[in-house]
Amino acid sequence: MLDELNQKEGLRRALLNFRRVVVLTGAGISAESGVPTFREKGGLWGKYNPEELATARAFQKNPQLVWEWYQWRRWLISEVKPNPGHYAIAEMERLFDDFSLITQNVDGLHRAAGSMIVLEMHGNIMRNKCFDCGKVFDGINLKDKEPPRCDGCGGLYRPDVVWFGEMLPSDVLYAAFQSTQSCELFFSIGTSALVHPAASLPIEAMHSGAYVIEINPQPTVISHSVDHTFLGPSGEILPQIVDFIKANR
Ligand code: OAD
Repeated sequence: MLDELNQKEGLRRALLNFRRVVVLTGAGISAESGVPTFREKGGLWGKYNPEELATARAFQKNPQLVWEWYQWRRWLISEVKPNPGHYAIAEMERLFDDFSLITQNVDGLHRAAGSMIVLEMHGNIMRNKCFDCGKVFDGINLKDKEPPRCDGCGGLYRPDVVWFGEMLPSDVLYAAFQSTQSCELFFSIGTSALVHPAASLPIEAMHSGAYVIEINPQPTVISHSVDHTFLGPSGEILPQIVDFIKANR
């Protein structure tokens, strides 16, 4: 790993000289914390059907089933802690002058690790909103066996996450594309880079002339186009990158 950092001049220069930095994360960053990913062997979408659990239609058809599945995921997430990858990203926020963290994850582990500004493209599982009027309710109660009702309109609570077929929060989407288009260095970490619009961000970064680094134990659809891929777990690679920057600046 350190050989790669020392031997590849473009990579070294990007890490040490560039100041406008964007990090995009996916489920893989939380894998070492014990949060299941989606599309890998044993991942959530291998065991469960997203059409029955992660669409507005599914909720209309069977709110209790959807609620229970999300309460289970919330319980799972409430039991885990950030890993060294999350902490390294929180440190990167302090190392670079202009830094944006964009995540597809809903688990809140970046904030738990100390990241101050997080663009959550797919919402946050630890919040609810009313299915009917959209009013947001911070905090969750793992003991709620069925979806509570909105104090405003009486509609059912649902998790405040983006389901398939739904629009992403427009302010978050706008900020994500703005920072990507003006960055010099872009990291794509722990994502299969298959789900748009998040998957468009590394491509957008490449088109804008940024140096793009990927971190993933497996090659992905963008591996052949990025400037450098670190093939390995982010919890091991990221702390080494941070140490390298701190030691060589
Ligand atoms: P995926 O499950 O599609 O991809 C996870 C990626 O993480 C894979 O490429 C793995 O190889 C990689 N990975 C596994 N362990 C890792 C580790 N220790 N370090 C680094 N990478 C590792 O998850 P996403 O790309 O995040 O959307 O999926 C995107 C969206 O699809 C999710 O946000 C979710 C899902 O449907 C919604 O729920 C709206």
